[in-house]
Amino acid sequence: AEIHYHEFVVQAKPVKRLCRTHNSITVNGQFPGPTLQVRDGDTLVIKAINNAQYNVTLHWHGIRQLRNPWADGPEYVTQCPIRPGQSYTYRFTIKNQEGTLWWHAHSRWLRATVYGALIIYPRLGVPYPFPMPKKEIPILLGEWWDRNPMDVLKLATFTGAAPNVSDAYTINGQPGDLYRCSSKETVRFPVVSGETILLRIINSALNQELFFGVANHKLTVVGVDSSYTKPFTTSVIMLGPGQTTNVLLTADQAPARYYMAAHAYNSANAPFDNTTTTAILEYKSVPCNAKKGKSSTPIFPQLPGFNDTATATAFTAQVKSLSQVKVPTVIDHNLFFTVGLGLINCTNPNSPRCQGPNGTRFAASINNVSFVFPRINSLMQAYYQGQPGVFTTNFPPVPPVQFDYTGNVSRGLWQPVKRTKLYKLKYGSTVQIVLQDTSIVTIENHPMHLHGYEFYVVGMGFGNFNPSRDTAKFNLINPPRRNTIGTPPGGWVAIQFVANNPGIWLMHCHIDSHLNWGLAMAFLVENGVGKLQTVQPPPLDLPRC
Ligand code: C2O
Repeated sequence: AEIHYHEFVVQAKPVKRLCRTHNSITVNGQFPGPTLQVRDGDTLVIKAINNAQYNVTLHWHGIRQLRNPWADGPEYVTQCPIRPGQSYTYRFTIKNQEGTLWWHAHSRWLRATVYGALIIYPRLGVPYPFPMPKKEIPILLGEWWDRNPMDVLKLATFTGAAPNVSDAYTINGQPGDLYRCSSKETVRFPVVSGETILLRIINSALNQELFFGVANHKLTVVGVDSSYTKPFTTSVIMLGPGQTTNVLLTADQAPARYYMAAHAYNSANAPFDNTTTTAILEYKSVPCNAKKGKSSTPIFPQLPGFNDTATATAFTAQVKSLSQVKVPTVIDHNLFFTVGLGLINCTNPNSPRCQGPNGTRFAASINNVSFVFPRINSLMQAYYQGQPGVFTTNFPPVPPVQFDYTGNVSRGLWQPVKRTKLYKLKYGSTVQIVLQDTSIVTIENHPMHLHGYEFYVVGMGFGNFNPSRDTAKFNLINPPRRNTIGTPPGGWVAIQFVANNPGIWLMHCHIDSHLNWGLAMAFLVENGVGKLQTVQPPPLDLPRC
């Protein structure tokens, strides 16, 4: 196993997109940021130096960080932010993970531009469970705003309204030639007829689920997040923010230029960015003259309609683990979490701070608790130092009131309360969580991400979860292992895991506008003695608040 040393300098850099330049926060001046390539068993040592004007932290999305929450990164959860001018070194070892993950800033909306791929190859000499591809291409899908995304967030946080939608989607940082001033920089991927390539597709968009396809080419799904899947062939995939999908593509079409494209899968009844990002798959044998003239306009893929929940859900439901897995047989913690939007009534609905629907402010919650990130200390440090008052551990395992979650409910039933509440899991216990979308404000796909773990997705469906009917249909044979799963709009998804990683681990919606509204909670996994003895001691350079 190797040790990889990197320096990640977080710094502003002028980036020009859509004819406009603004100072973007980047890592090492690169947008998207550097790609990390490691093998299972390797160690990463990344010194993050903050030369930007914002507080920042970095998160290694999907890395389990066994006994090492200090390297996980979510701001005010496992660490205090790295202040401008300061640095912090993230050290972690990859333990039994292979696949496509990614890293991103975990401070407010900085991840809009601070992100990159984290590719984990098998240990030396260990082959993929599929034919060796000729080459591999990371494809980072992103979202771009004409303004500094931190200002977009700031305005929305002030008004309590929904933030402006993005102005473009991007593939490896470029919007592509359907947008103004973007055609020259459209990303091109050369291929040779007959070869098979592995696309490692990452949805790093801030707020949007995306459909992705390549004109005339079939995609064979072989992995999601950091696990291998039973191969199946499709012409379109759907990824929620935070999710990754590995697909094999064989260049078996007539030599020409083909678009790969992504656009929104938007299940909510709300404004969204309805533009399309493109890159070009370019056969090397396309005759030179054909590359120029009109005839060479790339062929466009057929993507599903924006609100095609049937296609999105059918795709997700097709994903199975490559081989049989071991799920817990007895469940110690049977949790039922409502996830969804909400609105908080204002005493003065005409206030400039109450620009949400009907003079309210947006909030989002799990079991009616809208998560508040602490400001005075990180949860981990407060716990470790025995500092009281930062959080409580009475997060409700079930909703405080039961109702028809996906029916036509009045939101008066459900005004979120803002708290910093954790749910305690005993080390080694088995956990099942049913995540239930609610129809308050709007039904919506919520891509839920759990830090420090991977979980099995054992079932999903529409409407209200019904234990006696739905539990019997769980897939306990080959459910996919993931770190992020979409809660179907107006539906539910069930996940299972063993709480074998001590620490404090955030679970949240990976749509950052929802995270900002409080769609999060955290687990405290301790060994029963009341201290996290089994966690490594905090690094000496851990930022203090
Ligand atoms: Cu990819 Cu909490 O994040």
